[in-house]
Amino acid sequence: MTDTVQKPEQATVTIGDGVQATVPEPCILVIFGATGDLAQRKLLPALYALAGEGSLPTGFTILGTGRNESDDQTFRATMKKAVHSYSRIGFHEATWADFEQGLCYEQVDPDLPTAMDTLRERLEQIDQKRGTKGNYLFYLAVPPSGFGPLSEMLGKAGLAQAPGKIRRLIVEKPLGHNLASARALNERLHEAFDEDQIFRIDHYLGKETVQNLMVFRFANGIFEPIWNRQYIDHVQITVAESIGIEGRSAYYEESGALRDIVQNHIMQLVAIIGMEAPSNFASETVRDEKVKLLRAVRPIHPDDVLNHTVRGQYAEGTVNGEYVPGYRSESGVNPLSLRETFVAMKLDIDNWRWADTPFYLRAGKRMPKRATEVAIQFRRVPHSPFSGHSLTPSGVLPPNAIDPDVLTIHIQPDEGITLSINAKVPGRSTTIRTVNMDFAYGSAFSTQSPDAYERLLLDCMLGDATLFAREDEVEEAWRFCTAILDGWRAHPPDKVMTPNYAAGSWGPDEAFQFIERDGRQWHRM
Ligand code: BG6
Repeated sequence: MTDTVQKPEQATVTIGDGVQATVPEPCILVIFGATGDLAQRKLLPALYALAGEGSLPTGFTILGTGRNESDDQTFRATMKKAVHSYSRIGFHEATWADFEQGLCYEQVDPDLPTAMDTLRERLEQIDQKRGTKGNYLFYLAVPPSGFGPLSEMLGKAGLAQAPGKIRRLIVEKPLGHNLASARALNERLHEAFDEDQIFRIDHYLGKETVQNLMVFRFANGIFEPIWNRQYIDHVQITVAESIGIEGRSAYYEESGALRDIVQNHIMQLVAIIGMEAPSNFASETVRDEKVKLLRAVRPIHPDDVLNHTVRGQYAEGTVNGEYVPGYRSESGVNPLSLRETFVAMKLDIDNWRWADTPFYLRAGKRMPKRATEVAIQFRRVPHSPFSGHSLTPSGVLPPNAIDPDVLTIHIQPDEGITLSINAKVPGRSTTIRTVNMDFAYGSAFSTQSPDAYERLLLDCMLGDATLFAREDEVEEAWRFCTAILDGWRAHPPDKVMTPNYAAGSWGPDEAFQFIERDGRQWHRM
């Protein structure tokens, strides 16, 4: 039943940075919801970029499907426009001419009893014509209510399993809205597909800098010995976005910042920063370590939720010099909505490495700028031998007058790593000031980082699940977030105090007070 495909000799290609990369087996990528936003903005441009660098297998075909009647030519024209608008590598007629040969459309209306027969017939025709050998990947780019039914239909039609051939399912969040629904969804998907056939995309895992976090930790000898409670005071993870909800009111009113960013992207970052070193880079070994870490995350008791979390919602304000309306005035949002567009929280990890070393997390829409960062704040020096202006009875600067060292991993937009350390200001007095040692991707490497979807789609074709969320990772992240949601339900936000931060600010005052209570501060970004 499993996705064990006999691997013939695999072809390789030399890509931009001179690296030899494996080319996947010929296959068809079926996209359900192929004319939707995700397909046009992300999937097609990513596949086109892969075509441009020669990473796609011979005969590779995209079969777009949807409820609407259409044909190959119309689909190609729509996708050409999408690639024109969103391609990372620009538009090249010759690449397109070749790429579009592998673009097809078939109307597949899941409400019709013949839907899967139509699909099967078309797949078989493509196999004949393009030599794709019955290898299929099914991407469910449809609303989440379609995940279970479509997967079930594929299963019943016998399309989910075919010994010796590739059959994989690709899904993307929201994967449930709490622990129970996430479990129910996983069970439903498993009725047709085995776990090793399911690829759950979290696009943060496809980001170069997120992958580099693992290389940084485990390919350098100097950081790992100090990567623990003895040397680290606390960790901060910030996902700040200057954009609002971008017309996605129906989704966001249901979701909010916790489900939209924390449950998936931030919990993945927590796992990668906090996990033990895997013994190898095989997908199950890496994911086992991540799950172990997530299991050690202490649940926040619903009665304790107000001490550990802060919710915010943006009011009108100014972002990048432009007026923007408040969340409640966004089209489609309930004018009395209490939905959070900002969340800050403290997360504790109950294991030897991290005991008493909290992770402070925050995510928000309509912040002053777009920036995702991880800041590792080291402990202060235990004693300072330097004399200074604020003298203690012994005549030396107290240790807390010297800033702690901070390692900042800039995930976006300016990808890189900064180590902030203390240095002596030139001159006769011993004046200490913080200086930065910087590594910037842009100047260290000449190659542009690929888009997350390029890496993830290719890995899925190759059957490498390392950068995909396994069912237990998703469920552990939900375990933590569901307890918070339960607590929030029992302690709804103050109607009078909502909204509580101006667009273009760093969130509600309470978020600052919350971390200051612990004698700490959010890093300036
Ligand atoms: C998505 C969220 O998962 O991530 C969006 O649904 C958010 O609300 C986006 O804007 C942020 O992604 P990135 O790559 O811009 O950080």
